[in-house]
Amino acid sequence: MTKIVLATHNPGKVREIADLLRPLGLDVVSAGELGLPEPEETAKDFLGNACIKAEAAAQASNLPALADDSGFCVDGLNGDPGIYSARWAGPDKDFSYAMSRVHEELELKGLSESRGHFVCALALAIPSAETRMFEGRVSGKTVWPPRGGHGFGYDPMFLADGQTQTFGEMAPQDKHAMSHRARAFQLLLEDGVLTGLVR
Ligand code: IMP
Repeated sequence: MTKIVLATHNPGKVREIADLLRPLGLDVVSAGELGLPEPEETAKDFLGNACIKAEAAAQASNLPALADDSGFCVDGLNGDPGIYSARWAGPDKDFSYAMSRVHEELELKGLSESRGHFVCALALAIPSAETRMFEGRVSGKTVWPPRGGHGFGYDPMFLADGQTQTFGEMAPQDKHAMSHRARAFQLLLEDGVLTGLVR
């Protein structure tokens, strides 16, 4: 089976991406399991950071590597936390704290809620080939207080357009069917480069 490295140390992402890749018959191993270092995310956008992570993992492992850089962009906060979504949770990765910060910063602007969207940028780096990139989005609004114990990150405070349940309340397969990550994956699959790796 062809091995592919998931260039992430985030267990929530590993779970979701492994679920999306499993049907393809790829042998998924995470950068964390391989003990690969986490490169610094120095780009100014999601696609740039996804490239940095995928290319670092492909180079260190000499295997194809897939990276996801994603985040929550809140219109009322001029797109924040955006590429800083993970960093807003602090060193303890406390997303109750990060969600409270979103809520409090909106309140400081006199807003009780705001439109927003999740973005997922995917980069697939294959040793000695050009890196491929794809981006998916899902739009909706913030809710307060947070609702639901599924998913990860900002899921409990996000209500996608047309839904009555937050991402935190949805069953994982329902979130997978419509999320920013699922949309980026759809583009990746349509490109065919990933299925071309499967032997
Ligand atoms: P990254 O590892 O720098 O890409 O961090 C992305 C951060 O964005 C995560 O730690 C989450 O806080 C947030 N995020 C990305 N995707 C999702 C999602 O599907 N649900 C909730 N939060 C997400």
